Amino acid sequence: MRPLTVSLALVAALGTCWLAWGADEQPMNFWMKKKLEHSQSALRALALEDFDALRASANAMRRLSDIEGFARRTDAKEYRAQLQIFEFANDELIRHAKEKNVDGAALAFTQLTLSCVNCHKHLRDEKEKE
Ligand code: HEC
Repeated sequence: MRPLTVSLALVAALGTCWLAWGADEQPMNFWMKKKLEHSQSALRALALEDFDALRASANAMRRLSDIEGFARRTDAKEYRAQLQIFEFANDELIRHAKEKNVDGAALAFTQLTLSCVNCHKHLRDEKEKE
């Protein structure tokens, strides 16, 4: 295939994904379900002081959050704030897991959990306004 054909095919494919994304938020829910799973395994790892597993879960959540931040490019202040808190707490979780500091990791996990709750609280408030 010629480069132009390849580029056009790529643009078309991406466009379709984009539209599907807008139509219903299934892909977002898929990522979020993964996020929930990883946060649950992070809690398990914390309880067992399994720092390798904790890092793996935190890294997986970091990747999901990057995708999410890109997919949902909203400027809503509260949403952005919660996303930042989530990412900060997530990075702290990774740092403390590396340092094998269970207390620091537990605190970061608590902050992370609060950002889940608060971001969702914000989303519900927005829905009510509609
Ligand atoms: C910065 C905002 C934000 C943060 C932080 C966040 N979420 Fe979400 N979450 C969303 C959005 C947006 C959706 C999609 C909501 C919708 O479709 O109306 C969602 C949906 C979900 C769903 C529903 C999936 C389904 O199948 O319906 C679950 C479960 C979930 N999130 C769990 C979590 C967990 C656990 C955390 C923390 C580890 C978290 N979320 C952190 C924004 C966030």
